[in-house]
Amino acid sequence: MALPLSLDYGYLAPDIDLDEVKSFQDNVDLAHKKVTQGGGLGADFLGWVDPARIVSPDDVKTIKALADRMRGDSDILVSIGIGGSYLGARAVIEALGEGDGPEVLFAGNSLSAHEHAKVLKKLEGKRFSVNAISKSGTTTEPAVAFRLFRDLLEKTVGKDEAKKRIVATTDAKKGALRKFATEEGYDTLVIADDIGGRYSVLSPVGLLPIAVAGIDIDALLAGAKDTADATNVADVTKNPAYFYAAARNLLYRKGYTTEIFASFEPRLHYVAEWWKQLTGESEGKSHIGLFPASVDLTTDLHSMGQWIQQGRRNIIETFVIVDGGEPGLAVPGAENDLDELGYLQGRPMSEVNKAAYQATALAHHDGGVPNSTVHLEKLDAYSLGALLYFFERAIGVSGYLMGINPFNQPGVEAYKTNMFALLGKPKFEQATADVKGRMEKLPKDTTVTF
Ligand code: PA5
Repeated sequence: MALPLSLDYGYLAPDIDLDEVKSFQDNVDLAHKKVTQGGGLGADFLGWVDPARIVSPDDVKTIKALADRMRGDSDILVSIGIGGSYLGARAVIEALGEGDGPEVLFAGNSLSAHEHAKVLKKLEGKRFSVNAISKSGTTTEPAVAFRLFRDLLEKTVGKDEAKKRIVATTDAKKGALRKFATEEGYDTLVIADDIGGRYSVLSPVGLLPIAVAGIDIDALLAGAKDTADATNVADVTKNPAYFYAAARNLLYRKGYTTEIFASFEPRLHYVAEWWKQLTGESEGKSHIGLFPASVDLTTDLHSMGQWIQQGRRNIIETFVIVDGGEPGLAVPGAENDLDELGYLQGRPMSEVNKAAYQATALAHHDGGVPNSTVHLEKLDAYSLGALLYFFERAIGVSGYLMGINPFNQPGVEAYKTNMFALLGKPKFEQATADVKGRMEKLPKDTTVTF
């Protein structure tokens, strides 16, 4: 079956050519086996590999019923979560535009008082629902936000009505949010044990907010399922996801240390944010890993473009290009040609944008930035499902090629322990003493003032 997605690797030359990628096939075979059959590090977290198993038809019905209820009784959905518990939904909703559903606002993805005050203000006089999403149920950022928005909801509609407007997406049995939901009688959706946050967009974590926004979750899942079937072929010449995984590993081994996700479609900004978490958390451990960065083009050609063209040569670039389906907006005519745009008159903006992409890919290649392009035929729910799964599968395999566990994130705990210690969280008394002791030993008078 032809998928709406392909990979063009022409501009990886001269660093990488087809023969070199083919010569990596044995490694890819092994990584493919680990992803599809287990046996590798983190094998307990492979629940995302078969999207058909992530949610059953009954789960989809439940998600749609909850979404319909929220669409009926709310002007706004406040989706509370951080990291893998929010980036996927945000990526899809911002890419496809909010459908005919309520506006979805995201909270609990920072500890900024300003950001949360902004959302609270937007809710004034509005009917709203809350979807609290946290697998552990103890992550500070969403837990604080849940207090804030639950409080407002209860004050606005009363405690009993508030219970009907809150859905908790969390672990089936464990964690504070599960306990809370059981005590309060909230509707709940389950995050499976074998799916980590950054691989959870096609689970209830992403699907409920996406469905509330009026986006076709059946099409999104179908795109992912068809791509999963297509990626079950280990041959790098027939599987763009594995070709991409192999190529970025080979480039990493040649000394490239940063990969830039570049798109000419601002709607893909949060897909890039999602991709950064997926690649960064999966591969950045044991003191290795490509650093994931992103640019929005052509915007950033006028800021980061200089660096990419002529800065240190340690970067590779992955373009994600939408080839069709754009509105037929054309460059208008003008009475005079003072702006010298006469040659563009009447030509679609999509043609101009495409030329900008082609020009940039060539210029960056010539400037020493190996780049490849993921082409999407158009940007709809089906294609986006295909794109998300493409990257999930590629990064799972890529992590195994790097020799690490692609599915854990032990490094995330370090800041949490220090923060809990500084804030005096119960049971962190020893850490509080340690952290304060270490901070006291730091050099004093290290502030520069005017
Ligand atoms: O990918 C991950 O596992 C993380 O980004 C988590 O999703 C994030 O830390 C939020 O965790 P939780 O859902 O437990 O609140």
